[in-house]
Parts: sequence; structure tokens; C-alpha cells
Amino acid sequence: MKKGFVFDLDGVITDTAKFHYIAWKNLAAELGITINETFNETLKGISRMDSLEKILAYGHKENDFTTEEKEALAQKKNEEYVKLLADLSEKDLLPGVHNFLVQAKERSIPCAIASASKNAPMILEKLGVLDFFGHIVDPETLKKGKPDPEIFVKAAESIKIESKDAIGFEDAQAGIEGIKAAGMYAVGISETENLAGADLQVASMTELSVEKLLTV
Ligand code: G6P
Ligand code: MG
Repeated sequence: MKKGFVFDLDGVITDTAKFHYIAWKNLAAELGITINETFNETLKGISRMDSLEKILAYGHKENDFTTEEKEALAQKKNEEYVKLLADLSEKDLLPGVHNFLVQAKERSIPCAIASASKNAPMILEKLGVLDFFGHIVDPETLKKGKPDPEIFVKAAESIKIESKDAIGFEDAQAGIEGIKAAGMYAVGISETENLAGADLQVASMTELSVEKLLTV
């Protein structure tokens, strides 16, 4: 029997990718770089600073800014992103998420968040689901980002279960790779992408039952 769940946030619990996209697109435009939705896919699961580095490299401007300037650019992007989240509420939970969390709680199955987002606690609070999670891994404490398994291993430890007893949920390829490298069972959630290496892929969490998943 599996004993706990580890969730990515963006694209699994709520769809913030569109807001990240608007904020990055606007910042990139100010720097004379045009990004599109295909490029935005490659930013999913990637930390704020790594995303900025990728955008600068894409625009051949990777050597144009000092560390301090890059920090200011990342902060500017985040300020716009946070403004775009002002109206986020329970209605923005992805389909099936609330029901799944309630089912897990009824069975006393611990849940943790493994997201690269430093905004995760604020977002979960706005969505009204903060209390369902025993722990949110602080991305500041990580040495490596996804696809490294570190964040998933830390998430399992934080809810006191072994990685082999955990099920991880992800919408991004880098995340699925991290979950598998941590030795967990991986559930991919995506309607459009084929998530290679996932043990199970569904279009949304409405397709999942906690009881059935625990026996995989
Ligand atoms: C998630 C998103 C990424 C984002 C990262 C950092 O992994 O999928 O697109 O860049 O979090 O988010 P933050 O809220 O800290 O800028
Ligand atoms: Mg994601």
C-alpha cells in the first residue's frame, strides 16, 4: 500500500502557467525578446532565475546583465505575476483536486507540495487548500531543481514516509523525471503532452480515486 502523496503545484493543483507566461512575455518584450507558448512549455517546473536565464539565452542576451540586474528583472517579473494572481480563489482549483484532497484527508493520507514556486504558500492559501498539506518544501533549501529528485525526496521525508511509498503528481516532463529518480510512483496529469516515463497518465484528477491509487 502507498502511504502518501506529493504534488507539484502549477499545472496540477491550479493553472498558473498562463499568468507566468504573460509576466515573462511582457518582461522579455521589454528586453527585445519575443517568446511564444511553445517556448513557455520549456519553462514549466523551472525556477524563477533559471527561467530568466533560459529567456535571455533564447534572445542571445545571456551575457548582457550582471547578477544584480538579473535579480531585479526576476523581481519585476514576480511583481507582475503576483498582481495577476490577485483574484485567484477556490474556483481556480483544477477539476477533481478538491475532491481528491478530501478523500486523502478522510483516509489520513499525508500530502506535501513539491513545487519550485516561492509563491506556493500564498497560492494555496488563496485557493483555500493550504490546510490539506502537511508540508510545503521551501525551494530556497534546494541545491538542484527538477529534474533532480531532491525536491521530491525532501517532500516525502517531510511527511515521514519513504519515497518508495509515495505517489507523485506532475504536469511537466522534468517533474516526472524527478519523481521517478526519487523512486516514487509517478502520475502524469496532462491533456495535451505525452509525459514519458509516467506510471499512469490522466487528463485530469477527476479520473483518479484515492482508494484505487493506494494499491498500485
Ligand atoms: C513552477 C512553475 C514555473 C515557475 C516556478 C517558480 O515550477 O511551473 O513556471 O517558474 O514554479 O515560480 P515562482 O512563483 O517562484 O516564480
Ligand atoms: Mg507544474
